[in-house]
Formats: sequence, C-alpha cells, structure tokens
Amino acid sequence: MPRKIMVTGACSQIGRAVSALLMVQEGVEVTALTRDDLDILDAAAVMTKVEEIQPAVIINCAGFNDVAAAESRLATRLPVNTRGVFNLAKASEKFRVYLCTFSSKLVFNGKKYSPYLEDDDLWPLNQYGTSKHGGEEMITNLLENYLILRSDLLYGGGDDFVCRIQRELEAKNQFAVSNDFMIAPTYIGDLAAAMVALASEWAAGIYHYTNDAGEKGISSYEFAQAVAELLNLDTSLLQPTPINDIDFGTPLSMPERAVLSIERFREMFPALVRPWREALAAYLGR
Ligand SMILES: NC(=O)c1ccc[n+]([C@@H]2O[C@H](COP(=O)([O-])OP(=O)(O)OC[C@H]3O[C@@H](n4cnc5c(N)ncnc54)[C@H](OP(=O)(O)O)[C@@H]3O)[C@@H](O)[C@H]2O)c1
Repeated sequence: MPRKIMVTGACSQIGRAVSALLMVQEGVEVTALTRDDLDILDAAAVMTKVEEIQPAVIINCAGFNDVAAAESRLATRLPVNTRGVFNLAKASEKFRVYLCTFSSKLVFNGKKYSPYLEDDDLWPLNQYGTSKHGGEEMITNLLENYLILRSDLLYGGGDDFVCRIQRELEAKNQFAVSNDFMIAPTYIGDLAAAMVALASEWAAGIYHYTNDAGEKGISSYEFAQAVAELLNLDTSLLQPTPINDIDFGTPLSMPERAVLSIERFREMFPALVRPWREALAAYLGR
C-alpha cells in the first residue's frame, strides 16, 4: 500500500515545489490541498479531512509570511501560523499522523555570534517570528512524531526578493538593500528536496536547512549584488543601507545576525547541501 501524504497550503511557493517532488516519487500517494480545498483555520474541517484521507504524513506548507504586514493589527491571516498549525497537530495526534511543517529563523533574536542550533532558546523580535514560535510550540507540546524545518529567506517560487531586485534594476531605480542583515538565501527547490528527504526518513524533531552561506551568512546587499551580476544588471543602483534605515512601511525589529546551523541536516544528507552562489546561479540559469 502506498504511503499517503497530505500536503496543505499546496499553492504556496514551497507547497508547489514539495508537491511536484512527491508526485514523481514511487510508492507515494499525494493529496495536495489548496486553501480552497482545506482552510486549516477550520478545526472541524481539518479533523474531517484527515479522517477521510487517513494520511501517514502531513506536510504543512500553508502560512502567512509577510513579515512587515504581520506587524499590523489588520493581519487577520497571521493565525494560520499558530491556530492553523494547532488544528493540524490536534488531528495528527488523534489519527497518529507524522506532521511536518516549515518554520523560520525569525524565531531567534540574532544576538548569538555563531550559527543557531536547533535547540537554542527562541526569542522572536517581531509578530511573524512570534507566530512561528507559537506554531512550533503547538506541535512540540502535543506530538512526538513531528518534523519542524526552519529556513531563511527563500527565492525561486514566484514574486520574491530576486524578482524585486531584477524589476527595480531593470527599471533603473535605485534600490536600498540592507548591508547588515545577514542571510543564508535559499532556493525553494532545495528546501523542498530537504523536506522530502527528511520526511522519507521519518526524521523527528527540529532541523535547519538553508543553502550554505558559511557561519556568518551574507548580507542582503551581497546577495543583491550577486543577483545583479548574474543578470548583467547595474550593481551601482544598489544602495547599501543599514536594516534600521530600510522603509518597511511599519516599525519592524529584525534579528540582524541570525544564521541557522545546518550541520544536523548536513550529517544526514551531505549531497543536498550546496553553496548559496551555486544554487542562485543554477536558478538563474547562469
Ligand atoms: N517565503 C519565505 O522566505 C519563507 C522563509 C522561511 C519559512 N517560510 C515558511 O514556509 C511556509 C510556506 O511559505 P511560502 O513562502 O511558500 O508561502 P506563500 O507562497 O506565501 O503561500 C502561503 C500559502 O498558504 C496558504 N494559506 C494561507 N492561509 C491558509 C489557511 N488558513 N489554510 C490553508 N492554506 C492557507 C495561501 O493560500 P491562498 O493563496 O489561497 O491565500 C498560500 O497558498 C510558511 O510556513 C512560511 O512561514 C517561508
């Protein structure tokens, strides 16, 4: 009998990448559910759907990840990161499902001078990070058989940071990019492959996955420069700017130096870790 996997939030950037990988795996039966198919904020609907499908695994790709918008009281969809995850965790507890979900480095405060380990203390600085922390707690408090995969800035799934850099520079606009916010930019296809690899091994607990940007990461400015160079765009339009001077449209606290340690993942799947520049060049076809 094939292993049944239910994907929620299947239309998200990461949901599309995960579903595409699962669809071509042998011995796997995938049910990919968009928000129209299943609103994970609807507790009763989640219970009914899990009972009906009887998956062995749920991979939750639904979420609200607009970090600036999350600061607004009008961010009514933010609870998908907490209550939505709680609903999935309750159903997973009842029907003994292995629940996998994505989280973010923004659960950390960036005050550590070395890469964050999976069990380091969580101290989110903003509403988005707080919601991801809450979601993690919903799972760890209820379940033993779970996988939480934290990552960093993602690109490659739609209208993302890479597209924005390209758009602004092609339009010959000056573009302010942070030179002190350290990131390990990560190609969504690689993150999806990491999730599928871990889930295939029933890996339990918390893991980190990013493309490899070293122990200190790179600044958003360095990443934007690489994008511009690979696309033959004018790098002089990029304006290196401290993160505190970037206009997010709202006051926003961000952890400047939060870099995730990926050693736990690397030990299991060394071949699935690659340098950030290599992943970016491959994505841009250069
Ligand atoms: N993007 C990043 O840089 C990043 C970094 C680290 C971690 N993550 C995490 O990765 C996960 C996926 O992120 P993403 O960037 O791929 O997301 P995304 O492209 O912004 O898509 C979010 C998806 O969630 C769906 N959704 C929202 N509320 C829902 C609900 N109540 N029930 C079911 N589906 C719902 C949305 O459906 P509709 O379109 O119909 O609203 C949308 O398809 C999230 O947990 C996010 O926190 C993202």
